[in-house]
Amino acid sequence: MVPDAGSGRHHAGMNRYPMYGPTPAVTRLARYTGSEFDEIRGDVPDPFEVQGSGLVWRPTREHFGVRLGERLVAHAGYVPVPLAVGDARIRAAGIGSVIVAPDQRGRGLARSVVAAAVEHGRGRGLEYGLLFCRPDRVPVYERLGWRLLEGDVQIEQPGGPIVMPLRSMWLPIKEGVVWPSGPMRLLSLPM
Ligand SMILES: CC(C)(COP(=O)(O)OP(=O)(O)OC[C@H]1O[C@@H](n2cnc3c(N)ncnc32)[C@H](O)[C@@H]1OP(=O)(O)O)[C@@H](O)C(=O)NCCC(=O)NCCS
Repeated sequence: MVPDAGSGRHHAGMNRYPMYGPTPAVTRLARYTGSEFDEIRGDVPDPFEVQGSGLVWRPTREHFGVRLGERLVAHAGYVPVPLAVGDARIRAAGIGSVIVAPDQRGRGLARSVVAAAVEHGRGRGLEYGLLFCRPDRVPVYERLGWRLLEGDVQIEQPGGPIVMPLRSMWLPIKEGVVWPSGPMRLLSLPM
């Protein structure tokens, strides 16, 4: 098991947040549209705080969420993405659209939904997780075992490749893998 890359199963028996009661189950969502996003974000207009970046994103393909009663309160998306790193070509488990309802933060829900999305990639034989985030979100993902990628990462945008202005992080999701060395280029829009 990769330390803290965590599957839902891995954490099922060890409740890190006992003060909130049992850890809510993560489920695979049949869809994640604007209305599901609105349900989670409440009245926060730009919860990711990246609208000002002008970046164009690709949607995630699979969706993992937590419901409390009827209410969706957390989401993480998964999409496999192609990358060139030096001479290596890899496909990573792209994790995106991670969000927890403002009144439900700090009780491990991001940990749970990210773990489920990562586990999905692991189940498909992928060896690396990849995500992009603002610098102030880096500590959250570091707590989940993710590592900062040093150096520029090129990404695709409609006008051609640019250097990603956000932070790029990776996670080993297979025992013992190391990130290849060399220039990094995401061969798609970011997720
Ligand atoms: C970022 C976000 C998803 C975190 O959700 P959350 O459910 O509160 O996170 P968790 O409770 O699962 O916390 C996971 C870990 O990160 C830590 N953490 C949470 N918020 C943190 C913060 N602001 N700074 C540092 N660490 C933080 C927690 O302590 C926890 O570590 P621990 O279990 O070792 O104590 C949530 O704040 C959010 O939705 N923000 C708005 C949208 C966003 O920015 N999404 C991320 C896009 S990349």
